[in-house]
Amino acid sequence: MNRQFGVINEDEGASGRVLRVSVFSGDNNFRTSSLEALEPFYLTTVFDNANGALEEMTASPPSAVAIDMELPPAGGADLIRKFRANAALSHVPILAISDSKIKESSEEAQQTPADYQHERPLLKSKFLEIISIMANKSVERSWDQLPPLQATVLKETVNVFKKSFSGVRDGRPLPVANIEKSCEPMIEAITNNQFGDILRGVRDHDDYTYVHSLRVSIHLSLLGHAMGIRGDDLKTLAVGGLVHDIGKAMVPLNILNKPGKLSEEEWLKMKAHVLHSKKIIERTPSINHGVKIIALQHHEKLNGVGYPYGIKGKKLNDLARMATIVDIYGALTDRRAYKPAFSIEKAMPIMLDMKDELDQGMVKLFRDLLMEAAKLEE
Ligand SMILES: [Fe+2]
Ligand SMILES: [Fe+2]
Repeated sequence: MNRQFGVINEDEGASGRVLRVSVFSGDNNFRTSSLEALEPFYLTTVFDNANGALEEMTASPPSAVAIDMELPPAGGADLIRKFRANAALSHVPILAISDSKIKESSEEAQQTPADYQHERPLLKSKFLEIISIMANKSVERSWDQLPPLQATVLKETVNVFKKSFSGVRDGRPLPVANIEKSCEPMIEAITNNQFGDILRGVRDHDDYTYVHSLRVSIHLSLLGHAMGIRGDDLKTLAVGGLVHDIGKAMVPLNILNKPGKLSEEEWLKMKAHVLHSKKIIERTPSINHGVKIIALQHHEKLNGVGYPYGIKGKKLNDLARMATIVDIYGALTDRRAYKPAFSIEKAMPIMLDMKDELDQGMVKLFRDLLMEAAKLEE
């Protein structure tokens, strides 16, 4: 029943890593540093030569592969050729690592095209960044197998999310019209109870902030729909969910993607995302008031212990109360590299215990709604 919500079971282990990455290099130092860079985020396997590796990977293809062009015994180009000729592995994104830049016009590049290439030295942070892009390409390509509506929701929201994130980093306002447009197919999917595939499809994506934001957007719209919200107001919930954490674009990446607990100082920088959102919203005059409430008040609690404003009780309207509940549910049931997702059964008692902090009428409605939707899939 967890499948409906894109939640994985906790018995998958203490780590929430699901994407596989393989690294091929004859260089011991490079293999060690690759493991250090990638292991916290991906199920990483390193190979010191090409012998027998293909057979091992055909059974469960990796989401990204890095190949040292000096790989024994026959060189990296030979292995790339074998990947391309293997039906199960031909679409796996490949990064070629070489001593000097491979010219695109060179015979080597023409005959054994890798998707990405980088010359040595390859810094760990850069390596991680390239692998993440490659892994996301694999996940996004898998969306082509979904029915058209669900595939459209995922493709359009990921595009608009990436554009919004990079745009606000450059000081631009939010592209409100584009975001609203991307939410229309999502609302259609929610209204027709076709959101299960979307939640499952986004689960393995490697951009955690996008995954969390899309899940919040879907759950917030679902809760609103159950409360009788329709039309433009329902769109406000979908848009609000998608951009509620937009200020995280201004949080340093090493904090945002840290595979573990944040220090006190890092936590303060993370909490500042709401204030960053405020600035972004201030330079986006076309933004709707409801979206603003969701973005600025989704960490407020009924008893005033929330942040950043400590707003209390009746001063928190329905939108803020709904956003806080859905955001906490999202955080509990999101999968992170360092933790598996909580099941609904584990998340809900925690929220039902937050009696002073959350609107319990809404928590119960949300729980019933999630359980009901899950039953439809059994
Ligand atoms: Fe937030
Ligand atoms: Fe959030």
